[in-house]
Amino acid sequence: MAMSCLQRVGVIAFLMALPAAAAAARADTQELEQRGAYLVQITGCAGCHSPRDSEGEIIADKRLTGGDRALPVTDIGRFYPPNITPDEETGIGDWSAEDIVKALKSGETPLGRVLLPAMPWRTQFKDLTQDDALAIATYLKSLPPVRHRTPAPLAPLKGSAPQP
Ligand code: HEC
Repeated sequence: MAMSCLQRVGVIAFLMALPAAAAAARADTQELEQRGAYLVQITGCAGCHSPRDSEGEIIADKRLTGGDRALPVTDIGRFYPPNITPDEETGIGDWSAEDIVKALKSGETPLGRVLLPAMPWRTQFKDLTQDDALAIATYLKSLPPVRHRTPAPLAPLKGSAPQP
């Protein structure tokens, strides 16, 4: 059936609005990435999740690719903070932004495991607002994927003090 004149105007208006909507979506994503970059900087993700040089400085091109200092979880072991760049094999490339938000706010990974307290989600990140958690996730997903596998966990140290 032929379109009425009004319908045709409607279709044209819709088509004209599409590029504007796409540009707005891009601007939103960019804004989220910028806020996420800022939040990652001030919440200290990189401090744990990055290897350091002999001076103790974060190695810039390995930032967020996994830490080289294992963190103790009493009686369970010592754990290297993993690679959180979007590398498919050694990082979290197969996690969606929603998966990252869930891990930050509830500690739950896509495989249903609950993250250990060495990752301070329970004491800190669970209180992120949904928007801030999404900004962090959007930023992490915008990073270049870097292949870097952190070592397997180590056995617990004998006589380690109980953790709060
Ligand atoms: C005090 C050190 C520390 C800080 C700070 C920290 N993390 Fe972690 N994170 C860890 C450790 C250790 C693990 C591994 C925990 C486990 O496997 O149960 C982890 C695990 C993760 C995981 C799960 C990855 C995977 O492959 O299972 C994500 C995602 C993550 N952290 C994101 C972040 C983000 C984003 C921040 C900053 C907002 C952050 N972390 C801050 C130590 C830290």
